[in-house]
Amino acid sequence: MTRNHSRIKKAVIPAAGLGTRFLPATKATPKEMLPVVDKPAIQYVVEEAVAAGLTDVLMITGRNKRPLEDHFDRNFELEDALLRKGDSDRLALVCESTALADIHYVRQGDPRGLGHAVLCAAPHVGDEPFAVLLGDDLIDARDPVLPLMAAARERHGGSVVALMEVPRDKMHLYGCAAVEPAGADGLVRVTDLVEKPEPGTAPSSYAVIGRYVLDPAVFEVLARTRPGRGGETQLTDALRELAAAGAVHGVVFSGRRYDTGDRAEYLRTTVRLACEREDLGEDFRDWLRGFVDTELRQPEPAA
Ligand code: G1P
Repeated sequence: MTRNHSRIKKAVIPAAGLGTRFLPATKATPKEMLPVVDKPAIQYVVEEAVAAGLTDVLMITGRNKRPLEDHFDRNFELEDALLRKGDSDRLALVCESTALADIHYVRQGDPRGLGHAVLCAAPHVGDEPFAVLLGDDLIDARDPVLPLMAAARERHGGSVVALMEVPRDKMHLYGCAAVEPAGADGLVRVTDLVEKPEPGTAPSSYAVIGRYVLDPAVFEVLARTRPGRGGETQLTDALRELAAAGAVHGVVFSGRRYDTGDRAEYLRTTVRLACEREDLGEDFRDWLRGFVDTELRQPEPAA
């Protein structure tokens, strides 16, 4: 099943979703471009890939995603204006995203699910292992998970998913993995996978979070995977078949992960990261403390 143990060089970032949970903000702006503090969410994800040595990045985009391409391209007019103003700090910020990685784009003409998006990457990826990073999950740069996943692939071959323990009542939001221990290095073997199980039916409390290291064998499985949950081709369903053959491992992640996939989580992520920022954090934390103390103070319980 495992054909290629070479080092992983390519990252695939699906970014074709409509972002309906953030309408109207996403009517004309891709959800991946929504800022988390002052940087588009997608840039955190590309930075994570690059930090793990994956400098060949393929984005799977769709209609209305031009701003993504523009963000990672030069903007001569802006650069020139900042240069003339002598604003070298902002100029550096503008140029940062351009120089990050070697970014390629392919369009998923017909959005038929995450599995279909990953299949669109096949011609670019070829017969090599590759990583998939989902933009709704931000992994704190201080807790890198991709290197652990690449090491697991080196050791065991096959594909590797990142897992996180989540409360059972949240499991219907995720792919869920049944697992068994797989040796002393904290890895698990994935024995089964279910996409967004019905409440009360999850086989474990291990959720698949949006990081995958995939064997190219996944492409041929995806090509014949029938639409599953939501009528879409699910990556989870293809991985389920590979897991049944013993070819999927899981790295249990216990670091800091931020969700930007729905509005409340997005707001929490923004507040949390703003609090930690060196340039903004101190003032923002002061304001937040005052806000909580005054505006959000719980009424004293009646005696
Ligand atoms: C996708 C996957 C799901 C996974 C989740 C992680 O779902 O289909 O298996 O657990 O990402 O964020 P989505 O959140 O795109 O519906």
